[in-house]
Amino acid sequence: MTQLSRRELLGKSALGTGALWAAAAGVSAAPVLARQRLSDYPFTLGVASGDPLPDGVVLWTRLAPDPLAADGRGGMPDRRVPVTWEVAEDEAFRRRVRRERAVAVPELGHAVHAEVGGLQPGREYFFRFVAGGEVSPVGRTRTAPAGATDEVRFALASCQAWVGGPYAAYRTMAEDDLDLVVHVGDYIYERRDTETLQDFRLLHALYKTSPDLQAAHARFPFVVTFDDHEIENNWADGVSQPDGEASNEPGRFAALRAAAFQAYYEHLPLRRPQRPKGPSLHLYRGLAFGDLLDFSVLDTRQYRSDQLTENFPAGPRDPRTDDPGRTMTGATQERWLLDRLARSPARWNAIAQQTIVAQFDYDRGEGVSVNHDQWDGYAGARDRLLDFVAQRRPANPVVLTGDWHSSWVNDLKADFDDPASETLATEFVGTSISSNCSWAPAVAQAVDVNPHVKFFDGDRRGYVRCTVTPEAWRSDYQVVAAANDPSAPATTLTSWVVEAGRPGAVPA
Ligand SMILES: [Fe+2]
Repeated sequence: MTQLSRRELLGKSALGTGALWAAAAGVSAAPVLARQRLSDYPFTLGVASGDPLPDGVVLWTRLAPDPLAADGRGGMPDRRVPVTWEVAEDEAFRRRVRRERAVAVPELGHAVHAEVGGLQPGREYFFRFVAGGEVSPVGRTRTAPAGATDEVRFALASCQAWVGGPYAAYRTMAEDDLDLVVHVGDYIYERRDTETLQDFRLLHALYKTSPDLQAAHARFPFVVTFDDHEIENNWADGVSQPDGEASNEPGRFAALRAAAFQAYYEHLPLRRPQRPKGPSLHLYRGLAFGDLLDFSVLDTRQYRSDQLTENFPAGPRDPRTDDPGRTMTGATQERWLLDRLARSPARWNAIAQQTIVAQFDYDRGEGVSVNHDQWDGYAGARDRLLDFVAQRRPANPVVLTGDWHSSWVNDLKADFDDPASETLATEFVGTSISSNCSWAPAVAQAVDVNPHVKFFDGDRRGYVRCTVTPEAWRSDYQVVAAANDPSAPATTLTSWVVEAGRPGAVPA
């Protein structure tokens, strides 16, 4: 880390635009910290960047000298605190391209979300923050490419149950060569008593103390969406999963949702449109990587119909799954997705989302047993998506999935019950960063009666490294020997390739 004098940094900060200052000041009535010194080093939760565009990224940090302080305030005073951020072309900050000022406010847990514009496409940049006379670690990021693009490399990650601090998968990932990380949820796991903003802040802060998670965030921009455990297991729209009784008292779950959403926003590199408004958060969005790769990032929890059953890992298929009135995305997001796919000029169209899209019958015999939390519980909605793909033929659709703590390669079929039917798209399900898969045997015993599932492994943790070129999409399943032992070697479990114009993956 390069140390600059506080005077040098803060003295020139008046050159910065007032936009961020004004935006932040508008939400806070707290006075600005009169004395610039903080009690201790405030960058204990690291730095991050996210949602790359061709001309910029959003930079993130949260001031928290005492990150696990019981009141959830991170050891910060009830004051607004000026923060300066800098972007440079080199790690030593000799070729500085931006230096501006923001304000960290107590209403947002002293998180900073600095949206940087005016950068060059497809370029590496370095960034850091200064507050209270302290300088943050240096982060590296990368803008999205524009126009003709030869290659994009990214990691698909999900499900990082707390295993005590080390994350072998993130340590491995941080040493990889990637343009971005796509995280499809279960960034934290709620606990039985996680209910208030203070509770959710403490949980996020705990996870963010991981040096390996910090290292990955400091190295690559992240594109994140949540799944269920950022809020509550298997929540659905306004319905708390432990249906009925006290958990669904009027207002209780809306208040929990609002607390969870705010803490989520406070701890991740999200742009202003993703700032929650009480119990709602507009999380689905699109990101383009030149003419090569378009991401539609979905939120399949906030607008979904309630699960028909909670049988785990599966249970007899409820005939109501076919009801076209049931939705996984809500009507508005569904229209947005289909419209985006219809208009996309990109060579590859990735749909980054949470639960498994492919049908999977857990019953080897005559019965049909499915998991009703996944798209199998929303078969009517899945039919609409796959019928659209069949009719409108968006270029090279690839679905990216998390949630199920296991590695899968699936053909998405016109008719899952007819192996000879057309393969319309490919689904890569990434294993968890650290969460266990106790239900792996229940899946493994039925893989051979689901021939559209080309690969399954439930025993290993890691991430999927995707290398996308105009000719092909390659997915390398990078796995670690032990989720919480970063010294253990990482290996490639399996590699699959989709050729452009030929849906369905084949072994590399
Ligand atoms: Fe999970």
